Amino acid sequence: MTALPPDDLETLAAHIADRLTTASDTRRGAWRTPVLATASANGPRARVVVIRSVDVAARRIEIFTDAGSHKVDEIAADPRVALTFWDPDTGEQLRVAARAYAVADPTLVDARWSDIGSAGQALYGDGPAIDRRARFVVLQAVWNAWDWLWIADTPHRRATLTWTDDGRRETSWIDP
Ligand SMILES: Cc1cc2nc3c(=O)[nH]c(=O)nc-3n(C[C@H](O)[C@H](O)[C@H](O)COP(=O)(O)O)c2cc1C
Repeated sequence: MTALPPDDLETLAAHIADRLTTASDTRRGAWRTPVLATASANGPRARVVVIRSVDVAARRIEIFTDAGSHKVDEIAADPRVALTFWDPDTGEQLRVAARAYAVADPTLVDARWSDIGSAGQALYGDGPAIDRRARFVVLQAVWNAWDWLWIADTPHRRATLTWTDDGRRETSWIDP
């Protein structure tokens, strides 16, 4: 049987926030590995990433990456990114529009570097530890819109949630 999604927008917003938070905490959840799209000089570029943490109050998703990857230069040139999540078990897609940046604060980056441990650190470069640390980049993406779609049953449901510059959230159902 298909679980019905929330039918009021307030509960839906809480449901999506909860799913995002759980995804970053759960190794095998479908929403843990969204597709991150950036703008490049050659057109859009998209790739799968792992979301490492979610701060709902700050509207922030954290991702770790390698300084040599395309996304780092692309985000520096144009911070507008899209993250697309899909869960085949619940039939839910979430499209997130955000602005991303590489964290400059070395204390925060050091803390995340320490958190990933030696197995995680080994994924960055193949030189001595100090060089590997230089390759490690923490990206933060602050969302300003969600587009949620549920297709597990008919009729499908779709909603948009957008945040204004002063942080107010506007929500509406839309015809899928
Ligand atoms: C399941 C999965 C998880 C991945 N997680 C990450 C990640 O968290 N960070 C990352 O930079 N690349 C990750 N990758 C690799 C990216 O998809 C991509 O190949 C790499 O980041 C280079 O992309 P770019 O040069 O376009 O930035 C992952 C790939 C897969 C298949």
